[in-house]
Amino acid sequence: MSEQTRVAVSQQQMRQQHQYAQMVRTLLDQKLGPQRYYHIRTYGCQMNVNDSQKLAGYLEQMGYQQTGDETRADLIVFNTCCVRDSAERRIHGHIGQIKALYEQNPDLIVCVCGCMVQQEGAAQALQQRFPFVRVCFGTHNLYAFPQMIFQVLSGQKRARSIIDAPTVAEDVPVVRDGVCAYTTIMYGCDNFCSYCIVPYVRGRERSRDMAQILDELRALRDQGVHEVMLLGQNVDSYGKGIDGASFDKLLEQADQVGIDRIRFMTSHPKDISGRVLEVMANSRHICHQLHLPVQSGSDAILTAMNRRYSAQRYLQIVQQARALMPDIGLTTDIIVGFPGETEADFEQTLDLVRAARFDSAFTFKYSPRRGTKAAQMDNQISAQVKKERIVRLIALQDEITAGVHQQLVGTRQVVLAEGPAARSPGQYAGRIDRGVTVNFKSQTDVTGQLVPVEITQAKRNTVMGQICPQA
Ligand code: SAH
Ligand code: SF4
Ligand code: F3S
Repeated sequence: MSEQTRVAVSQQQMRQQHQYAQMVRTLLDQKLGPQRYYHIRTYGCQMNVNDSQKLAGYLEQMGYQQTGDETRADLIVFNTCCVRDSAERRIHGHIGQIKALYEQNPDLIVCVCGCMVQQEGAAQALQQRFPFVRVCFGTHNLYAFPQMIFQVLSGQKRARSIIDAPTVAEDVPVVRDGVCAYTTIMYGCDNFCSYCIVPYVRGRERSRDMAQILDELRALRDQGVHEVMLLGQNVDSYGKGIDGASFDKLLEQADQVGIDRIRFMTSHPKDISGRVLEVMANSRHICHQLHLPVQSGSDAILTAMNRRYSAQRYLQIVQQARALMPDIGLTTDIIVGFPGETEADFEQTLDLVRAARFDSAFTFKYSPRRGTKAAQMDNQISAQVKKERIVRLIALQDEITAGVHQQLVGTRQVVLAEGPAARSPGQYAGRIDRGVTVNFKSQTDVTGQLVPVEITQAKRNTVMGQICPQA
């Protein structure tokens, strides 16, 4: 990647945005008084979760408070995903439901942003279909959110801002919740897997400066954050175009910061280096967890997907990772029903899943995306076959997950307690180093603590544990 494609938002532009946020604050203090609420609905991947935390940061600068109840909100944001058709349809349904709220409160500011909006022509189409959507912006314009809110508050009917130039903006305020934080290390993707919309809506790959990332990690450590997830669509190509920067070097330095746990995602099998695995194995704080999407176990399909590795190469990486870290937790993404996938191709995927023994797998039915190469292939697979294949794949993976969880029973692990378990009163939930979620009983609030537990029982998606008496 050349330097020209890495468009940094200047400090002056950022200062301007902070001024807009202050102007919005003053305006709204007069108009609404000090009580005003925002509600954000986030769809898609961790990248979007991280973006929503930045939007929340700006909104709190503007004097809004968060509410989980959208009927109370003065401002609602839909941060969208378009990776599959099912996501887009669900989001359209949810935006449609907001119409009733808008009719009761015409001052309600409805914003739609994120990947769906970044698609060509999508913003216009959306505002035509849902005229109550007043603010629309793409993934590259997030940094200018305060300006858009200022525009609609000062009388402009709508604000729409979709630009093609990918940006890297530092100093956007962030609202984080919980004991784990996200830090984006690179934006965009240059891989153009033939099925995938992400490179079109997130732009060309661009990495943040290593010094900025490390400063952020130190600040998080000082704020008491215990776990950080380093984010990127392809973290293994971090640092391309920046002298002296590479993902293994970043990991090595991140390990020195002293945050209890560091995880990262997503890795790409064509780019992950042996050096990254060695740094993981030799580190103190880099978790032994690797999310390594395989997508298919058939070389013909992998070629058609433009993934640029073979099933054999993938299994070699798995073997190398396990040799260095026998306790590693491997997870993956798999697509079934890619154009041209035969029963034999699909069986090769099942074979690979048996050989790799993933802790868990995210499984998807192929969904054609407008503008991508695979959408134009003429050997599309029927909905019925996709469904039948995904059912078989999930059944196999469930069996393997159960076996992995069973093997954990009786072992001692350290859990970073993230908070009370969602559906089990009296219990806390957290993850062990390899990423598996553990529920365990505790009389005291252990949120944010590293708790030694013995695993006592395997469940479908989680395991149960018991706090070990302190030695
Ligand atoms: N950058 C990551 C993740 C990208 S999106 C990676 O390279 O793996 C997350 C997952 O969604 C992908 O790994 C893929 O399995 C799935 N996905 C992407 N496009 C899809 C499509 N058109 N249909 C079905 N699944 C898709
Ligand atoms: Fe999409 Fe492939 Fe990039 Fe992942 S690596 S975001 S699947 S194009
Ligand atoms: Fe979806 Fe955009 Fe993530 S399309 S998966 S939210 S990068």
